[in-house]
Amino acid sequence: MKIEPFEMERWQSKYERLVDYELSESGVHALKLSELLGSQKATKEFLETPLGYPQADGTPALRSEIAAMYKGATPEHVFVMNGSSEANFVAAWHLFEKDDEVVIMVPNYMQTYGLAKTWGAKIKPLKLREYLDWQFDPEDIKNLVTKKTKAIQVCNPNNPTGSVMGRNQRKALIDAAKDSGAWILSDEVYLGAEREGPRTESLWGHYEKTLITNGLSKAYGMPGLRIGWLVGPPKMIEEIKPHHDYLTLTPAKLSDRLAQLALEPKMRERIFSRTRSILQKNYPIVRDWMDDHASLFSHVPPTAGAICYIKYNMKINSMDLAERLRKQKSVLIVPGDHFGMDGYMRIGTGPPKDYLLAGLNRIDELLRELKAGKKR
Ligand SMILES: Cc1ncc(COP(=O)(O)O)c(C=O)c1O
Repeated sequence: MKIEPFEMERWQSKYERLVDYELSESGVHALKLSELLGSQKATKEFLETPLGYPQADGTPALRSEIAAMYKGATPEHVFVMNGSSEANFVAAWHLFEKDDEVVIMVPNYMQTYGLAKTWGAKIKPLKLREYLDWQFDPEDIKNLVTKKTKAIQVCNPNNPTGSVMGRNQRKALIDAAKDSGAWILSDEVYLGAEREGPRTESLWGHYEKTLITNGLSKAYGMPGLRIGWLVGPPKMIEEIKPHHDYLTLTPAKLSDRLAQLALEPKMRERIFSRTRSILQKNYPIVRDWMDDHASLFSHVPPTAGAICYIKYNMKINSMDLAERLRKQKSVLIVPGDHFGMDGYMRIGTGPPKDYLLAGLNRIDELLRELKAGKKR
């Protein structure tokens, strides 16, 4: 079967380990296992974990902790998987069929977009508008969603723009879904990674046909655990589970145990404040750097996520720019082309400060060369 390439993930998987400065990642630099385990007692207990098959849908202990974050949810509403990408995949696999009409927020992480294309669904893009600070126009969703719409997929907080859906937009989305009977599929993996403003409100709890995906990779800084989850009505969760039987069967046992520690409410808040403090320290570094190039760059300050989505004023295609940065300066960024938007680039703001500064300096070198008209 021919698949629609997931360009950003392929780009990252291929090159992220080969460059000196990896600025394509959208999460904060990772927490260490020792920071999660803390005491010797916890470490000792962890080492005694039997390495048998784990529970297929996640342990009851972990599912209870996850359920507690979603009003009215029980462990039966929760399905734990390997990363929110896997949760997105199985939900989309169940929902998107050939010729189905699906409304997808763009720009977006582009996973569900590529899957919808691969499976022959008809995509109606719900555009985030830069002049609205990367919100969609509520009128657009009214016009796009019809009785034929099977699902509306959103990414909130949004990757790559870092915007958080406004109140009018939330209302328009929920109203449109209710009117049409479409499913809402909301990827909320950046919830808890707010640089400023209040914690993002989940779309959970306003409409029965809602599916939420989330995980530990971004706001929690633990992508290595590969823990993600899907929350939805128990009947739908049961319908989706058989898809996972053809995939990875279960989450990893050690990760399930560690996720329980991470999601314990006190620990969760500690982790979220670590994330926020990294974002608050690092964003000004990138902002000041952009200010130094005010004629070249403009951006809407991101509310959440370790990302900055930058519009540039240079006569070079975004993929060409990213390739020159990678090959000549050993820096990896994400070109706007991966989101279907030439003229933009996404830079990660989550690495340690010195690393980030050094990476930006390397980008400066190329900017100087471009200004001087150097071709290669
Ligand atoms: C919006 C969004 N969803 C899902 C993922 C995948 O995350 P995970 O590591 O949980 O599979 C990413 C990764 O960048 C993302 O940006």
